[in-house]
Amino acid sequence: MQYSSKGIFKSEKEIKGDCMQTGVGQSHAKIILIGEHAVVYGQPAIALPIFAVQARVTVTLEPALQTPQIKSTYYNGPLEQAVGQMQGIRRLIEQLWHALDPNLTPFELTIESDLPPERGMGSSAATAVAIIRALFATYHQELSQQRLLKLAALSENLIHGNPSGIDAATTGATTPLWFVKGQPLQPLPINLKGYLVIADSGQKGQTGAAVKSVQNQMMSNPEQTQPLIDHLGYLTQQVARNIAQNELTVLGANLNRAQLDLRALGVSNARVDHLIDVANQTGSLGTKLTGGGRGGCIIALAATQSAADDLAQALSAAGAIKTWIQPLHAL
Ligand code: PMV
Repeated sequence: MQYSSKGIFKSEKEIKGDCMQTGVGQSHAKIILIGEHAVVYGQPAIALPIFAVQARVTVTLEPALQTPQIKSTYYNGPLEQAVGQMQGIRRLIEQLWHALDPNLTPFELTIESDLPPERGMGSSAATAVAIIRALFATYHQELSQQRLLKLAALSENLIHGNPSGIDAATTGATTPLWFVKGQPLQPLPINLKGYLVIADSGQKGQTGAAVKSVQNQMMSNPEQTQPLIDHLGYLTQQVARNIAQNELTVLGANLNRAQLDLRALGVSNARVDHLIDVANQTGSLGTKLTGGGRGGCIIALAATQSAADDLAQALSAAGAIKTWIQPLHAL
């Protein structure tokens, strides 16, 4: 016979609750401060964690269920029937379930994410990281950072064959990172007093198409394309120095220069350019697209919280569907 803490008989639900095995995994958004596209060609990029925008996954073992179930904004139902954009996630979950649970006990997996999808904030990678953490927590398995990143990279490859792997590498990280394709990640301590405003253009980014078009230009017109890539790499090196030396104004100017290169590579578009112009007219110290481009998000730099608030307001009035402010000293 079982008693609850209040000394009365436990209900069936309470007894079930005691046996319930649950795991929670969390992750956050990321943005690329500078270096996107050039990073595909071996240049460095700097990525920042955005803690204000979170993803959370909860797994509860449910022996009474027939098969694992998923609950999310995009899909509710049996894991085995998750198709389309959920297919990569499904394969990741199945792979981990088979690896971690010899009994293959069914479960319910709930995905709650504040990350907008396909906006360059690492939505799919953040979901994958939270899923991996939640499943390892459910089965009380240790998960090293190295293993986490490897599994997240696998999942990202399944989802969209990401050429540099920067998303998977950075959504699991808790510090700003210096990223060079194929090399170990390097934490990049930030010594900056400023604010980054992130604005969602409301248009899906087109990372795959943009990466492909840069690749085509690299092949058909290397004389003009390679210098743009090299210059982006140079600017990224400069920005790393600005970050270390708290040179906010120079950093802003370098972000503007990077945007000119990205525009010349053809990965910006009219809507993104419009938001960038509005930010610059509202006193941004530097503004550029972030991630793959052709939609997605832009970032703008401000010296104070009130300047950041003004930027966020102006960007919303100009059509941004959502804005976030990340204090740089909190990174
Ligand atoms: O759009 P995002 O956040 O997935 O970033 C893409 C970054 C690129 O450099 C354009 C591509 C890559 O794989 O690094």
